[in-house]
Amino acid sequence: MKKVGIALLGLGVVGSGTYRILQAKKEKIERDYGVSIEVKKVLEKDLSKAEALGIDLNKVSCDINNVLNDDSISVVAEFFGGTEPARTFLVQCLERGKSVVTSNKELFSKHWPDLENAARKTGAGIYFEASCGGGVPIIRALHDSMQGNDVLEIKGIVNGTTNYILSNMTDNGSDYDATLKEAQRLGYAEANPSADVDGYDSTYKLSILSSLSFNKRVPYTSIYREGISKVTKEDIKFGKEFGMTVKLLAISKNVNGKIEAHVYPAFIPNDHPLAKVGGAFNGIYVVGDNVGELMFYGKGAGDLPTGSAIVSDIVTAATKESHRRYPFILEEAAQDFNDDFISEYFIRLSAKDESGVLSTITGIFGKAGISIDAMVQKAGSNGRATIAFVTQKTTELTFRKALEELQSASCISEVSSVIRVEK
Ligand code: HSE
Repeated sequence: MKKVGIALLGLGVVGSGTYRILQAKKEKIERDYGVSIEVKKVLEKDLSKAEALGIDLNKVSCDINNVLNDDSISVVAEFFGGTEPARTFLVQCLERGKSVVTSNKELFSKHWPDLENAARKTGAGIYFEASCGGGVPIIRALHDSMQGNDVLEIKGIVNGTTNYILSNMTDNGSDYDATLKEAQRLGYAEANPSADVDGYDSTYKLSILSSLSFNKRVPYTSIYREGISKVTKEDIKFGKEFGMTVKLLAISKNVNGKIEAHVYPAFIPNDHPLAKVGGAFNGIYVVGDNVGELMFYGKGAGDLPTGSAIVSDIVTAATKESHRRYPFILEEAAQDFNDDFISEYFIRLSAKDESGVLSTITGIFGKAGISIDAMVQKAGSNGRATIAFVTQKTTELTFRKALEELQSASCISEVSSVIRVEK
């Protein structure tokens, strides 16, 4: 039987989950895939983590040279997170001909070209199934099952933390700050939640998914990004009246050869498959020109779900004779982005409760050629009313102009929210 030595860089939540799966599935992997995988080295400063897993402490150190200089190791799985020292270590491993496996979407979206360049020197492999969607096998599906298609669109809920927060706000009518605090208390959100709630994590993942789908380098810096902190329970309540649910979406589309890549909170109709993706789950909706609609769903984080994707990559890296190359990632980044994209909008505003307000709103939008799809008005206190409405499709620039006019109309006290609608 083929024997493959591996190293684990870090024994955090996912590193430990990976080790446990490798132990539990050792015989199955040997029987079904014809390879015996042995953990030869572990990089971890907290020895108690290794002890808790029953790992021989002679294998554990903090020195990457112990991994680099061990010729029996041909696959290295990285669990550090962040860009350094992960980038340096993985480049060194690839330059020594060791294939690398990572769930590190920040590293991957920022430094994929560095990894590809290093891998080309030796023919080593780069595996990143766990970087997007945790345990959901979306990378392999895009790689191996879409050859007969052009991908037209990806719409994903790829961040479990924000989906947990928005789902709870929707189910319980609670506001953002209280829900975030509760999510932090329960361990769903980090003490510093910015990477998740401000949309960075989703942007990294969308950069990877879009590059793979369109075979073009789509840098995360070219992706428009908005987080969820401005979504209010009032918006969610009005959205329900229009039959819509709010989600943080990572969207990329190939519109007549131009790429549109955005991360923003958006309302989707309650009957869209993504509307049913609740709690900390992930869902990725893909449209191919021949296959039509596809929906991937599952746990986007956690020790065993993410470990499941990592083990799948380790076994693949260990059994392949030659590894996939990514020529497009070394080319210049795609320049053909569409900055005047078409969208529908939800607007919530506060206005004087008097005659002529609705005609002012419809007049401004009518003049701009933007049709209004649905409108709800609620009388409030102090002679004010709250009005919420949804537009039909319009370009971003046309919408922004109409919005400016709306904000300066004397009968409008405040435009409280603008949230895109994805149908
Ligand atoms: N912070 C990420 C999430 C973890 O909330 O989905 C998985 O990448």
